[in-house]
Amino acid sequence: MTSSPEIPLLLRAARGEVLDRPPVWMMRQAGRYMKVYRDLRDKYPGFRERSENPEIAIEISLQPWRAFQPDGVIMFSDILTPLPGIGIDFDIVESKGPLFETPIRTQAQVDQLHPLHPEESLPFIKTILQSLRAEVGNQSTVLGFVGAPWTLAAYAIEGKSSKNYSVIKGMAFSEPAMLHQFLSKLADAIATYVRYQIDCGAQVVQMFDSWAGELSPQDYEVFALPYQQQVVRQVKETHPDTPLILYISGSAGVLERMGKSGVDLVSVDWTVDMAEARQRLGKDMNVQGNIDPGVLFGSHDVIRQRILDTIRKAGNRGHILNLGHGVLVGTPEDNVRFFFETAKQADQLMAVH
Ligand code: CP3
Repeated sequence: MTSSPEIPLLLRAARGEVLDRPPVWMMRQAGRYMKVYRDLRDKYPGFRERSENPEIAIEISLQPWRAFQPDGVIMFSDILTPLPGIGIDFDIVESKGPLFETPIRTQAQVDQLHPLHPEESLPFIKTILQSLRAEVGNQSTVLGFVGAPWTLAAYAIEGKSSKNYSVIKGMAFSEPAMLHQFLSKLADAIATYVRYQIDCGAQVVQMFDSWAGELSPQDYEVFALPYQQQVVRQVKETHPDTPLILYISGSAGVLERMGKSGVDLVSVDWTVDMAEARQRLGKDMNVQGNIDPGVLFGSHDVIRQRILDTIRKAGNRGHILNLGHGVLVGTPEDNVRFFFETAKQADQLMAVH
């Protein structure tokens, strides 16, 4: 076992080390299930105001850190945040979600998009990431994140959250050349953004291709995977040592293909058994996730069992304990606290349960 106490646990797991217990964090660990977040939201009602004003975004990012001391602190932001910087405006509206006044539907609109200059359009990200690093030191790992090309294109083309993705699929299956150009421009912008986040202090970056599981495996290989690879390839050219994680919702049908993206860890949802996910991904891939966020509405006994079960199945090498998707609205905060406390005692608990 490598012993390197000055390197935080999550970073060591992301690099494939064997550890006594897996590090633990949660997707959407900052947000509406926390009362302190809802109170702050009442004061600053606009999502973009909260996420693009560094003082507020830092405060929100640190709310779960102060409450639960997770091994990973993710910056408070959104996957859509870089889009205005390439010429696509959006807003996030309470109870409606993301809204785009002018969805991307024509070749002329794709032609008008411009490259991302993050120093100019995303200066607040630098303040947020630098402050988070200064605040948590070696006690935790600071995570940045981005959306993947397919998922960002889905929002920009549909114009809002979608149930069946008929507009983007209509484009994929009638005007593929235009969609490919859009995806490629997004991939370049996202790679630039990942590099910027790392330069500003992100120690691990997670790429959310949340809706790539809506594609058939055949179409995933055409419209999602090549653009994940484009992002990863560009980032690894300049920042080969920063671990990258890929998350997809409903990923059981494309799990092996996720491994081909070039990332260092695959974040699995709960539609696949963790032991099977390990087998399907092979021994060289690190893993994260898998616990149904709905378990956090259950009893402490069930929460403890699922944590230990996941650790037994994933093992203690290259494993980050996490949920299979974000914390759900309405999740009892006490259960989130119990989850973190239990996860941190997992090495002792494994012996007795
Ligand atoms: O994990 C964290 O703590 C960081 C915060 C975070 C947010 N969005 C804040 C947010 C992260 C990692 C995201 C990523 C994100 N955003 C994804 C990928 C993750 C996933 O869920 O698959 C996606 C698809 C989005 C797009 C998005 N942003 C949607 C669909 C919505 C509305 C969802 C809803 O439940 O209303 C948002 C808004 C959003 N982003 C909220 C938060 C906390 C809720 C709005 C609010 O609090 O005012």
